[in-house]
Amino acid sequence: MSEYSVELKGLNKVYSNILKEDTIALKDINLQIRPGEFISIIGPSGCGKSTLLRIIGNLDKPTSGTIEYRDGADQQMGFVFQDSVLLPWKNVRQNAEFPLVIQKKQTKENEEKLDELLELAGLSEFKTALPRELSGGMKQRVSIVRALSYDAPLLLMDEPFGALDALTRDHLNEELLKIWQKTKKTVIFVTHSIEEATFLSDRVLVMSARPGRVKEMVEIDLPRPRGEATRNDPKFTEYNKYLRGIIG
Ligand SMILES: Nc1ncnc2c1ncn2[C@@H]1O[C@H](COP(=O)(O)OP(=O)(O)OP(=O)(O)O)[C@@H](O)[C@H]1O
Ligand SMILES: [Mg+2]
Repeated sequence: MSEYSVELKGLNKVYSNILKEDTIALKDINLQIRPGEFISIIGPSGCGKSTLLRIIGNLDKPTSGTIEYRDGADQQMGFVFQDSVLLPWKNVRQNAEFPLVIQKKQTKENEEKLDELLELAGLSEFKTALPRELSGGMKQRVSIVRALSYDAPLLLMDEPFGALDALTRDHLNEELLKIWQKTKKTVIFVTHSIEEATFLSDRVLVMSARPGRVKEMVEIDLPRPRGEATRNDPKFTEYNKYLRGIIG
């Protein structure tokens, strides 16, 4: 068992098509993610961010290299994707509760925790609303609560707020940090937004264009809890500038 929440050693991923043409998606990724850490991954389109997340999430296999998890984190992970994929015939609470139903874990304690999460995500008044009655931001909040409902120690998020306008995104970033601080999950968050990565993260992993490698790991030393004051902090602007420079 790893002392890290997730530890990647010498990870490579090669996709081959029927013509035996290889695409090297990931090359020699070494990464140690601490328990409870919020880490973001940024890099140019096609550099392998989603591939890396899928491999960590057991949805894809690496071509070579190893992954170790702590405390069986590989058995249970929460996922949030760019598109919230809610069941249209189920209401907000039923959607959020779905993993508990599937796993037959509808204990009183879990149900109470679910209601707390819905409250924390500002959805208490919309429990009986159907997905078609919700805004894009609200749907993403439901999918975040759903991913947290079964208390997996590891939360994987692939551009969860990519489709939202800047104001809604800023707002949800703050909500996400509140939930994260309360639940103490390890979060791995893929984004195209440098500002979003800086605002949220303890560390930002910058990947290089294909083949995806770790270009640099940047520690974000901004005080928490973060909020509006963070965005006005000159250090925040400095980090964004620095990250933009690395990506090029
Ligand atoms: N299932 C697959 N089969 C073949 N090639 C793939 C597959 N999935 C991804 N790739 C290739 O691997 C590389 C990395 O893709 P990936 O989706 O991980 O990039 P990304 O960094 O998430 O990009 P984006 O920012 O656009 O989402 C790309 O060249 C892509 O074409
Ligand atoms: Mg992607």
